[in-house]
Amino acid sequence: MKAAAVYPHAKNLGVVQDFPEPKLESPTGVKLRILNVGVCGTDREIASFNYGLPPDGSDYLVLGHEALGEVVETGAEVSGFKPGDLAIPMVRRPCAHQECIPCQAGRPDFCVTGDYTERGIMKRHGFMTEFVVDEAYYLNALPASVRDVGVLVEPLTIAEKALLQAVEVQKRLPWDFAAHTHRAVILGAGPVGLLGAMALHNHGYEITVYSLAREPNPAADIVKAIGGKYISSQDRTVDQMAADVGAIDLVYEATGASKLAFDVLRALGPNGLYILTGVPGHHGPTEFDTDTIMRNLVLKNQCLLGTVNAGKDAFEHAVADLVSFYAKWPDAVRALITGRYAIDDFAEPILRPQGIKNIIEIAA
Ligand code: BGC
Repeated sequence: MKAAAVYPHAKNLGVVQDFPEPKLESPTGVKLRILNVGVCGTDREIASFNYGLPPDGSDYLVLGHEALGEVVETGAEVSGFKPGDLAIPMVRRPCAHQECIPCQAGRPDFCVTGDYTERGIMKRHGFMTEFVVDEAYYLNALPASVRDVGVLVEPLTIAEKALLQAVEVQKRLPWDFAAHTHRAVILGAGPVGLLGAMALHNHGYEITVYSLAREPNPAADIVKAIGGKYISSQDRTVDQMAADVGAIDLVYEATGASKLAFDVLRALGPNGLYILTGVPGHHGPTEFDTDTIMRNLVLKNQCLLGTVNAGKDAFEHAVADLVSFYAKWPDAVRALITGRYAIDDFAEPILRPQGIKNIIEIAA
């Protein structure tokens, strides 16, 4: 079968024509026909040979970690899935160290050894191929009503894990935080930012998306369609944006641009929570007024949190939220997917990205 791969040593990308079709070998395994696979910034980093690793002994890595599949076969002990069901596979797998408490507890997204693996990213082949086999435990059921946008679940888990932690972190505040309306600023209007904006809005936040492109643009239209505000960083400086918004209770960073992220940290409001989700490349040191940042963090009880996706809880919340978004804003959710490519053309949206979310359509 075909598989879209990166060859880090040869420094090229190519379709493997004879990638072996996986067989169901475990009674708790499930075989999926892959329908769609999303392309994201992580794939771009891997395809520029700056990130990710093939499995030991392989000279290539099959890409793809944002997948939607349809069950074609289940092991004898699988009860939660049957052929025809839709499933979203998880990405991370635990490290093998007995002393890694998070991995032992089933939370490799908090792995402390760094020896976790990730499908399509770190030492495990991904989902950009025709069939995959995985343990049922790593699959999340998806209702058929959201089939055409189900590929958005994995990028949405970034926001869902962030929100789950935001609720826990803000329990530190000695009043009923959830009883009040809060203001969130989302940095970046790519898929992670827009899905984050939808999730935050769904959880009662007033949202403002702060991003580079001037209006009109399709991302700004999506923000407005869900009832948010859009501000271009070419029109308003960070301080002007902060003045427009008012005290910012939460920042959800989804750009991977560290300079902008630390610039906006200055504008965080009292008792605010600042969530970083981007993974920047190494672009060297830059200067910051660390006194101001530290004074604010202390004198305003602020909290800075980094997060990488995701556990099963975040996947379950992402499925539930996607169903809810799609019911409320069907056109806006559909508008997130702007490009569809065949597997033979997988390199195109990776090397020359345009639009919002590009996906590889492997089967209908
Ligand atoms: C993936 C995560 C992964 C992270 C770091 C992201 O693009 O969605 O699952 O942990 O990259 O490799």
